[in-house]
Amino acid sequence: MKATAVAPSNIAFIKYWGKKDEALRLPLNGSVSMNLSNLLTTTTVEFNKNFKKDIIIIDGKRDLKEEGRVINHLNRIRKIAKIKLKAKVVSQNNFPKSSGLASSASGFAALTLAATKAAGLNLSQKQLSILARQGSGSACRSIPDGFVEWLKGEDNETSYAYSLFPPSYWKIIDVVVIVVKEEKKIKSSQGQKIVLKNPFLKTRLFYIKEKIKKIKQFIAKKDFPQFGELLENEALEFHAIALTSNPPIIYWQPETLKIVHLVREWRNHGLLVYFTIDAGPNLHLFCEEKNQQFLMKKLKFVKEVKKIIVNYPSEGARITDKHLF
Ligand code: DP6
Repeated sequence: MKATAVAPSNIAFIKYWGKKDEALRLPLNGSVSMNLSNLLTTTTVEFNKNFKKDIIIIDGKRDLKEEGRVINHLNRIRKIAKIKLKAKVVSQNNFPKSSGLASSASGFAALTLAATKAAGLNLSQKQLSILARQGSGSACRSIPDGFVEWLKGEDNETSYAYSLFPPSYWKIIDVVVIVVKEEKKIKSSQGQKIVLKNPFLKTRLFYIKEKIKKIKQFIAKKDFPQFGELLENEALEFHAIALTSNPPIIYWQPETLKIVHLVREWRNHGLLVYFTIDAGPNLHLFCEEKNQQFLMKKLKFVKEVKKIIVNYPSEGARITDKHLF
């Protein structure tokens, strides 16, 4: 049986960084995110008795580094579906992989939905989110629609993501600014291990519940300035934690810092724009719909900007009939 799914990447407002259970990918803290309309992975999965082994093709190539992780995920699904058939998986990203744009989130969300359907399963959204989480933590947030909270939970069954608000609830824009196109050197899975020994992590975890509560309130009230201030504060805290880990993780490039300063300068001149940055050098700039054109005009004159991807809040993972093979 063959099935295809499309899943969005998501950007965390409050970040997931550090696991209490490595194998199950149970996070040390909850997180809040938004699904992105223009950073998408499409994945087709077919289980077939004629296949001798699993074949994984990502962005047109066999990716030996990712293969093991994908096959592990197929094994989880085969176990639930009680099948032994091998699979062919073809996956296509519409954005550069491993550039801090969270291809593992959209990738494992699309894989989870497509593979479970292809295996004849019909899982609930919560079950899909739990399963996607085991492939890549942040992928659990790409299953539900729009603005999403991942409950850290206590165990496998209680750690999943659900929709706080649908995509249409709040018209904010995430302009992804790509300043560096190379793949990142330290994978987030590695960074998440290193952070466990960081003495500042304790302090972060002490305050994070309050942060989650606040960001949800600001989204509910559509209070953009308060939302933006907290968004930036969290991004800076996350990178402070990365920087002070041992070995240190320096995700920023000079171009990253240049844009950070520009955003602050533009804001001082009245343009309401805020940044967040994940585990990579590229930035996500947030503004309200009414300021989108103005922000785009500003960015046009910045030579460090290599590419821009405009995102609206998006629905989560969904099935499509446009198979890739
Ligand atoms: C910085 O979900 O990629 O983007 O569970 O090891 O696959 P694994 O980690 P991953 O980590 C994402 C980290 C982040 C923050 C976030 O998206 O919450």
